[in-house]
Amino acid sequence: MSNGNFYIETYGCQMNEHDSEKMAAALKRMGLTPVPTPEAADVVLINTCSIREKAEHKVYSALGKLKPLKKKNPLMITVVAGCVAQQRRADLLKKVGHLDAVVGAHQISELPSIIRRVRKTKERIDATQFTSRVESLHLNAPGLGPSRVWSYVTVMQGCSNFCAYCVVPFTRGPEQSRPSEEVIRDVRGLVNKGRREVTLLGQNVNAYGRDLGNGTNFPRLLQELDRIEGLARIRFTTSHPKDFGTDLARAMADLPSLCEHIHLPLQSGSDRVLKAMGRGYTLAEYTAKVEMLRQMIPKVAITADMIVGFPGESDEDFEQTLSALERIRYDQIFSFKFSPRAGTRAQNLPDQIPDEIKAARLKQVHAIQDRITLDYHRASEGVIEETLIEGIKEGSGQPYGRTRTNKIVNLDGSNCAAPGELIPVKITKGLKHSLVGERV
Ligand code: SAH
Ligand code: SF4
Ligand code: F3S
Repeated sequence: MSNGNFYIETYGCQMNEHDSEKMAAALKRMGLTPVPTPEAADVVLINTCSIREKAEHKVYSALGKLKPLKKKNPLMITVVAGCVAQQRRADLLKKVGHLDAVVGAHQISELPSIIRRVRKTKERIDATQFTSRVESLHLNAPGLGPSRVWSYVTVMQGCSNFCAYCVVPFTRGPEQSRPSEEVIRDVRGLVNKGRREVTLLGQNVNAYGRDLGNGTNFPRLLQELDRIEGLARIRFTTSHPKDFGTDLARAMADLPSLCEHIHLPLQSGSDRVLKAMGRGYTLAEYTAKVEMLRQMIPKVAITADMIVGFPGESDEDFEQTLSALERIRYDQIFSFKFSPRAGTRAQNLPDQIPDEIKAARLKQVHAIQDRITLDYHRASEGVIEETLIEGIKEGSGQPYGRTRTNKIVNLDGSNCAAPGELIPVKITKGLKHSLVGERV
């Protein structure tokens, strides 16, 4: 029996995408049916991100668009979940009259009962309390996922680092790990359903296990997951450089299913700025770890996040970021203009950098990195890369997938491979954002 339709819009990181999968699963279990647009939905859920101002603004414009829909269909239930909900809490309900509920990161498993309550009592609900045992952490979404080939699996969530610029510790709460038996059980279940790859998620996977107090840690978890038969690839994100050590590098070198890719956000090349950010490492300490990784795993791909225009960032500091990019030579980076966030230490620091300077710096970063990424992609021409096929492009019938180093490969030729196949592909062309290859 249909209990109505639902529509979910998701912003933010992989953790948020995965939370949306879990919430979609819960709504389906309630008998609701997913629809591709909000117009036909009885429940509209916006899963939000507040990492930068721009991300937060998207929420308000998405909510604005719902107002006329709700007028037309007064029974429509509107929910804001995720990091903006957690940050703004009841304020959001006050500010947005047509909003029925805010659901924080620790409350997503409550979504079905919240919807039932709104339906029954028409209350407006603020469900944003932090809890010491996050139920949704234990909610897996087996059988769901962005593709039938791979799935996300949460290993921990939250962050206790409080980098000066970052809202995540406020929106996700302190680090909380899932028991390893639970993670292993989930991954086994996914493999039994035909998944070939999992991406383990956590705001700082290196902190995995610390709060469990039973001696378990991330490298140990990886060892156990690597033994699961039928699991071809394991990825993980994100690893904090200060906690990244030899044991994880060793695991990456030794465990066959662990992919040769690590996302290791540097943020800045200036020690002064790193210190002000509270990152807990110097550039020299960071690069020593990168060198160790490259020595142990010669083909490793390294990616990072960078922030330009942190308060007080001088031309000299910024030059150091540029020279770090030239020296480290990342495969790819994600770079952002610093955005002051409510409640963080950096919000009220003196010497905020004007937006024009931030924009000009970001442009310089892009120019350097685009050249380096293209260099890597061109250098892989002629090389044979194990590729996991993830899907087939509509229209052209071209299969696409990813290398172990997380690069996108589009196959030349139509329907020459099927999703889930793990095949050798000879790279024939390196482009700016992807590779072209042919099956060998
Ligand atoms: N847990 C991860 C990062 C999660 S947030 C880590 O510590 O590495 C993803 C990225 O967003 C960060 O790495 C940072 O580069 C960027 N970011 C976070 N807060 C920001 C802010 N206030 N302004 C600009 N970029 C920010
Ligand atoms: Fe944010 Fe720092 Fe935690 Fe990453 S480690 S989520 S940047 S506070
Ligand atoms: Fe955004 Fe929250 Fe992820 S702020 S980046 S959705 S943890």
